[in-house]
Amino acid sequence: MKKRWKVAVIGSGDMGKQHVKGWQLAGHEVVSITDVDTARAESLAQETGVAAIYADYKEAIVQPDVEIVSVCLPLALHAPVTIDSAEAGKHIFCEKPLARNLEEAAAMEASVRKAGVRFGLGLQRNLSQGVLKAKELVETGKLGRPVFFECDAVAEIRPKRIMHDANGNMGPLMDLGCHYYIMWQTVFQSRPKSVYARGNILAKDRPELAHIEELAIDSAVVTVEYESGDVGVFTVSWGMPPRFKLGSREDRILGPKGGAAGGFNSNPSKLSLYIGDEIEELPLYVYPSLHKEQFDLFVQALEGQGEPAASFQAGKEVLVLTQAIFKSIETGEAVDYPSFSRESSG
Ligand SMILES: NC(=O)c1ccc[n+]([C@@H]2O[C@H](COP(=O)([O-])OP(=O)(O)OC[C@H]3O[C@@H](n4cnc5c(N)ncnc54)[C@H](O)[C@@H]3O)[C@@H](O)[C@H]2O)c1
Repeated sequence: MKKRWKVAVIGSGDMGKQHVKGWQLAGHEVVSITDVDTARAESLAQETGVAAIYADYKEAIVQPDVEIVSVCLPLALHAPVTIDSAEAGKHIFCEKPLARNLEEAAAMEASVRKAGVRFGLGLQRNLSQGVLKAKELVETGKLGRPVFFECDAVAEIRPKRIMHDANGNMGPLMDLGCHYYIMWQTVFQSRPKSVYARGNILAKDRPELAHIEELAIDSAVVTVEYESGDVGVFTVSWGMPPRFKLGSREDRILGPKGGAAGGFNSNPSKLSLYIGDEIEELPLYVYPSLHKEQFDLFVQALEGQGEPAASFQAGKEVLVLTQAIFKSIETGEAVDYPSFSRESSG
């Protein structure tokens, strides 16, 4: 009979809810929910039939029945909760991004290795059928090569103000960009060669953000050229006015023979394919929960079959690329990625 793993979910916000439901859909038992906001934890526990709630994650993770700790907390807490959980001998599934910097990432990885536990990273959007289809279109030469992969995300300032804090979730280039950077790497099957980005803080005068000491860059255009010759472009803003009506544009891949458009990594039901003067709809399977899919793969890895969909390697690669983007914005220069990556990894 299939083993039901026992999971402690830490954080009961948007991702906490997705994790509780995803673990349950995958057939495992969420034994507790933890949040400093205990009313929030209580309400999610009631909705999902979870028996125990905690305010202090340190108390939750040391319970003897807990086998996996699922971390759904603000970015600054990914490292301490991962390290404490590893030291308590628990496997860890942590939300993206991996960490704020490579020092934190190294400390997390060292504690996981020392404890002999496994670590999975929540980049579930990369499991979308749209990403697989994009990879296939590029790999088989259907669009020709090289391709330009343009991604777009435009929104008013985020209701979770910590998203705008340079010392919190560090803005969209860190918090949201990771989904696109990992997608480009998957689709191009190549490594970055050169990074050029320009960015700004469009919402710097907004009173809602006045309490934040150091604002993160909220708007940017990022261009990453890969060794394959393919190029990823990310245009992003979280700095638009209240109730702004112009939404994000569909993502597009353009090559010499044609193009494809859609929400590639958003679990889409279809993509549109444009070859010559023809348009074709490509229907895709929509997963009921991409979180369930990533937990299935993680549990298979725990049971000795395969690897988690993403772990430290993917998390660190995405982090180094994010840092190269920040460096290009800061210096106004293109960043030579291979040498930047070598220097960063020390
Ligand atoms: N994979 C994805 O698609 C995706 C989407 C959104 C967010 N995320 C990531 O998930 C993480 C959480 O984001 P969210 O949107 O759920 O945030 P959220 O603000 O909705 O939830 C975070 C929760 O953590 C709680 N919390 C804060 N400090 C705590 C502490 N010390 N101990 C216990 N609880 C504490 C807060 O009270 C809050 O309820 C972030 O890293 C974010 O980047 C991932």
